[in-house]
Amino acid sequence: MTLRQTWLAEGRAEVPADAIEPGLWEEIAEEAAHCATVAVVRHNRRPGLLVMRDGSITSPQRCRVHPGGKALNALARSKVLADIAGEATGQARMTPIRYGYKFYAPGDYMHVHRDDGKCDITFSCGLTPNLAPMGWLPRLRYLSTQQVADELQEEPYPQGGEEFSILHRVLSGFDGRRIPHWRTPLDTQSGEVLITICFSDLSVKPS
Ligand SMILES: [Fe+2]
Repeated sequence: MTLRQTWLAEGRAEVPADAIEPGLWEEIAEEAAHCATVAVVRHNRRPGLLVMRDGSITSPQRCRVHPGGKALNALARSKVLADIAGEATGQARMTPIRYGYKFYAPGDYMHVHRDDGKCDITFSCGLTPNLAPMGWLPRLRYLSTQQVADELQEEPYPQGGEEFSILHRVLSGFDGRRIPHWRTPLDTQSGEVLITICFSDLSVKPS
């Protein structure tokens, strides 16, 4: 299947393992270690799912975040990612609009949610090797935001979900603004580090 066909059928887009220079991963690992010392706590305790006007759904989560520096910026701006984002989503000019490191300590979690409505594709990977798969529900991809919220209101980690592998230093793209996804509380003894990069089509369309 082409990238486009896989995206349409499954809501995902794989980035080849060798697409990113190993040297850049080393720089990112070094940068992440520094950012970890100054990352800020993100702890949303408001229970339940909150439907936002942009189509996203927010919910409780706990981790620490940092927007990254030069190395992560270089990854987000690499041509290969923009090309994959564009080919998968069928949009012309994909720009990374939001990216960062997420630091998970034992017990940190992310309830089921939908990403920012501007994220046409969300890329993610692990910077540490022990991240468990993310949970996601591709079958709810095309339901309205309210329908998703109604269906999942009582389930922070929905039953019947599927697993989405988060690989070490290999990015995967997914339709995070439509497909509900979550991370159950981290049950390793070690802290884990995740990267997320959201792309949006910022081209001006003729009316
Ligand atoms: Fe997300």
